[in-house]
Amino acid sequence: MLSAIASVIRNVMVVIMTVVTFIAPFSHKKESKIERKNENCKAAFAAISDTHLKDNFIRLGMFEFGLQDLDQAKDKLDAFIVNGDITDHGYPEHWQAFTDTLLKYDVSDNNIMVLGNHDTWGGDRTYEYTKSNFIKYSKEATGRDIDDVYFTADICGYPVIVFGSQADHTGPTFYRDQLDWFAEEMAKAAEKGLPIFVFCHQPFNGTHGLPYNWELEKDADPDDGGIGESSDEILEICNRYKNVVFISGHVHAGLSTADDKTNYSSVEKVGNVTSVNLPSYEYFDFMRGGHLFNGTGYIFEVYDNEILLRARNFATGTWLEKYDYVIEITE
Ligand SMILES: [Fe+2]
Repeated sequence: MLSAIASVIRNVMVVIMTVVTFIAPFSHKKESKIERKNENCKAAFAAISDTHLKDNFIRLGMFEFGLQDLDQAKDKLDAFIVNGDITDHGYPEHWQAFTDTLLKYDVSDNNIMVLGNHDTWGGDRTYEYTKSNFIKYSKEATGRDIDDVYFTADICGYPVIVFGSQADHTGPTFYRDQLDWFAEEMAKAAEKGLPIFVFCHQPFNGTHGLPYNWELEKDADPDDGGIGESSDEILEICNRYKNVVFISGHVHAGLSTADDKTNYSSVEKVGNVTSVNLPSYEYFDFMRGGHLFNGTGYIFEVYDNEILLRARNFATGTWLEKYDYVIEITE
């Protein structure tokens, strides 16, 4: 009975917050356009996650509000990343809706798509089916030529490494070929002596309030909501190098700092690695707490000595300074 009441409250809150976010862009002038905070910014990119797009005008409309904000940036962004669960179910019509909407706007010349678990649930849910759609729509939506669901990219010379699950489970499946590829690409990337940005839809096990934050159960398995069995290996590889920023989504939490009355922080250190868990752009879960509004994500501004993480609600065009974070770059 209690869980039924909690479920009703959860859904009512989601509806209220969605309506509030949806009408916000009409209710006031956008506070401030996107621009670099300081001079000598070497690269600036926006990252959002869990758009869960389908043929639904609220989901697509919320995405479009964000694209308008990004398109109208005073300083055009060097890249834009959607970090998985781009679609709600990986159906071709969902990928097409994403593609058509993205292509209406001039967000950046370097748009990057990351595969999430929901994106693997189309067709017969096989790796081959998912891979063929992901390759096809990555090309159509971003112009990027890739030959698998995992690949490397580049933002103004800063190396970017993108994971992609090779099976349709909620937790990702990274086979030996991908794990070995990752180790090789990290070694190559580190030779540049620059920060390395790693995108993976799922966070490391036990980070950002996991495993409790996944199903909100006290007796959760240690890898619930995380990468799962490859988590320790990937973390160990990341920790071999300096200035690695590991960016995930998946948890459907809001923005939160270590000082907030939640059990998680959106940004935390895991050994040498800075782990950033992006809030859910749509489809957030009220019960996880934090700043829960549709349209949120981060802009990353890279300078010689630091990386500024600037939280923003892209749907309303509002900075959320409380959740900003500074990553010091170590020599
Ligand atoms: Fe999701």
